[in-house]
Amino acid sequence: MPPIRHLYVHIPFCLKVCPYCSFYKETLDREKMRRFLDALLAELDQALSRDALRPRTIFFGGGTPSALSTSQLETLLTGMRERLDLSELVEWTLEMNPATVSLEKARMLRALGVNRISMGVQSWEPELLKVLGRVHTAAQAERSYEILREAGFDNVNLDLMFAVPTQTRAQWAATLEKTIALGPEHLSAYCLTYEEDTAFYRRFQSGEYAQDKDWDADLFELTLDRLAAGGYEPYEISNHARPGRECLHNLAYWEGADYLGLGPSAFSTRGMDRWENVESVAAYCERVLSGKPAAEFRETLTPAIRLSERVAFGLRTSRGLDAALLAPWQPKVDEYLEAGFFEPHGEKIRLTRKGKLVADSLAEAFMGEPE
Ligand SMILES: C[S@@+](CC[C@H](N)C(=O)[O-])C[C@H]1O[C@@H](n2cnc3c(N)ncnc32)[C@H](O)[C@@H]1O
Ligand code: SF4
Repeated sequence: MPPIRHLYVHIPFCLKVCPYCSFYKETLDREKMRRFLDALLAELDQALSRDALRPRTIFFGGGTPSALSTSQLETLLTGMRERLDLSELVEWTLEMNPATVSLEKARMLRALGVNRISMGVQSWEPELLKVLGRVHTAAQAERSYEILREAGFDNVNLDLMFAVPTQTRAQWAATLEKTIALGPEHLSAYCLTYEEDTAFYRRFQSGEYAQDKDWDADLFELTLDRLAAGGYEPYEISNHARPGRECLHNLAYWEGADYLGLGPSAFSTRGMDRWENVESVAAYCERVLSGKPAAEFRETLTPAIRLSERVAFGLRTSRGLDAALLAPWQPKVDEYLEAGFFEPHGEKIRLTRKGKLVADSLAEAFMGEPE
């Protein structure tokens, strides 16, 4: 087997849990941290004894990796550097929350090899930051962005959210303009989804919050227009980058590459094997530190499942998909070309703007065996 080229590390801690978020995380407990960091490095050792690993991309996501202190992050990064062959590494991303950025932390990360930061800004409107239950102010987010630049990061992504309760069209336009003016290399603009088991979902169920597909579509189109005018290319439905600044880690996922995930709740895919680590910090530490695998769930993928995943992810990208991959579903493809949801793009097929508005339901037609 060739070496694994993409490594994800899940850091499941946040200062405070946001009411819309369903990523696996716990509130920060500094006591547990030493044990957790030992467990992550032990899991990496287990992986290295099983598989060759020569990462081209590393992504520290969460949760909030920057919720760890400077010295904890330093311990973790140093431990990883000692164990890994980083000679082919091109991109090392770390997610940060604006409330947990300091110049000292940013400089240390940069010095130890992190070269891309993804920061969750969500909005520049004080009222909306309150609705979203964020722990930072707009001014703090702006200052944190400046700190990242000061520390030498020249590849920064900012996350934004639209279709947030009470948000107006003018507020979303202003957030886009303000972000463009700051000039990050990459922007992720997510439409709020009401995820099960979140406080937002309960408010949605009770009728306090509502979702309106036309409103979501209107704000999405505004996003495409404003960001294109600002010099960003929409290379995936929610992701926009200056030319050459696409996130290589995410592109690898979408193209169906193998990846290894470390940490509680992380997924890995190796050939036809897929596994998911246990979703509990305590159980994760217990297992890994006693020499047992962290995986709780394993499955063997079929070629049909892998192909469906390639199609579902590939369709979301502006590169599109090789028409040959879609051949088993030719009648469906013809129908979507005819209806103006798909367009040919050289040897590839991709979504039109109209198609992007209903991407998830279009992708469903390519799940499972072709009819
Ligand atoms: C792991 S968080 C990013 C880093 C950090 N934890 C933070 O929030 O600042 C990943 C991103 O997912 C997006 N997100 C989380 N929950 C979402 C939801 N329910 N709907 C849409 N976007 C969501 C947010 O934009 C968030 O910044
Ligand atoms: S959005 Fe970010 S900070 Fe908020 S709970 Fe989710 S992972 Fe944590």
